Amino acid sequence: MKRDQWSSNFGFLMAAAGSAVGLGNLWKFPYIAGMNGGGVFLIIYLLLLILLGAPILLTEMAIGRSSRLNAIDACKAIAPKWGFVGGMGVIGAFFILCYYSVIGGWVLKYFFKYIVSSEIKEPEQYFESFTSSVAEPIAWHVIFAAIVVFIVIRGISGGIEKVSKIFLPLLAAFIVLIAVNGMLLPGSFEGVKFILKPDFSHIKSAGDFFGIVLSAMGQVFFSLSLGMGTLITYGSYLSKDSNLMTNSLYIPLFDLIIALAACFAVMPAVFAFGLEPSAGSGLIFKTLPHVFANMKFGRILAVIFFLLVLFAAITSAISLLEVIASYLIDRMNWHRITASVVPAAAFTAIGCLASLSFGKLSHIKIFGSSIFDFLSEFPDKILMPIGGFFLCILAGYIWGMPNFEKEVTSGGKYTFHFKRLTGFLIKIFAPLMIVIIFFASFI
Ligand code: PFF
Repeated sequence: MKRDQWSSNFGFLMAAAGSAVGLGNLWKFPYIAGMNGGGVFLIIYLLLLILLGAPILLTEMAIGRSSRLNAIDACKAIAPKWGFVGGMGVIGAFFILCYYSVIGGWVLKYFFKYIVSSEIKEPEQYFESFTSSVAEPIAWHVIFAAIVVFIVIRGISGGIEKVSKIFLPLLAAFIVLIAVNGMLLPGSFEGVKFILKPDFSHIKSAGDFFGIVLSAMGQVFFSLSLGMGTLITYGSYLSKDSNLMTNSLYIPLFDLIIALAACFAVMPAVFAFGLEPSAGSGLIFKTLPHVFANMKFGRILAVIFFLLVLFAAITSAISLLEVIASYLIDRMNWHRITASVVPAAAFTAIGCLASLSFGKLSHIKIFGSSIFDFLSEFPDKILMPIGGFFLCILAGYIWGMPNFEKEVTSGGKYTFHFKRLTGFLIKIFAPLMIVIIFFASFI
């Protein structure tokens, strides 16, 4: 069977940025920044985005495009024993999908809620009672999963690329609009200060510091979709005419802009209404309804906002399912439909347990965490950094810089800007940093 391909580099860029921009930016970034001291987190995040995120992103794309294979076989093509790096990605993608789809379901619910009613009264209680109930969140989760499968079944240029090309530019425009709207609220200045002004009093010990650094690193990996084989898979459908170097700069930049815009949409409002910036994973669901209730055209903005979050979540979830599907298609010779539906049925089933862990199954703990927290922390804090580490070693030392350069420059067609710096970051800095941050945070 002929391997599918992106119809243009712009299509790839939108799909890759669509994978990167997701719940990680709109739902997670504001609350993680809120829980980790705002400005301090932002500085560390920025540094790690440039020094770890961008070079690893470039590495993944290069490995994918050079082999034109799924994540596992792409790593094997470089070194036969290194398929496990891609394997960790496939497993991690599955873990993420289990809980990602649950939140996708929450977003879907809020979107429809605002379509049928003008506001959400007492948002905190509303959120708690919705997420802890049994049937409703599961039903929304199943609908979300079904939408994702439907798009992945339609393939690369016909499904994933088309959806991303339409929704990503829309998302960017509206999130900026909502951020500007949020900043115009009276009292919102405190929120802007919270995001931009580093407050070092938050860091009382080395443990605090490494805790923040680990969260920032986890967020960089998560937000850029790294270490899960997504960019290897997407890169494998990319033509040699594309300039990988510029792509590796545009994607993090775009991702950062959206994450910042999300922060500016949420934080000023949090402060303007006297809410708690460290409210955790319910932040956007608990705080934004207050904002929309007090805004002109609040209901319409709410519908648009949740619709955009929904699209962002969908374009990311399809990239995760594609990692698994492409492996099953290439390796097991499965038809695209089976390769999409079977893993989706499995992640939907486990996702139901994750959903129930907010209510009926809240007593079940895995290594001290609820089912939902375990499914989210294990890929974020463990699989992604370890995957990133091995990826750097694989590319930097086994594949080697000459091969890497040949791929990045498309055989001499493009200039490899920051070549020596990138080599240093991939071979030395990134692996070392990952090991230090990883172990220090445990100690
Ligand atoms: N980057 C996505 C987000 O920010 O929501 C999540 C994600 C997608 C993580 C794909 C990992 C991945 F492979």
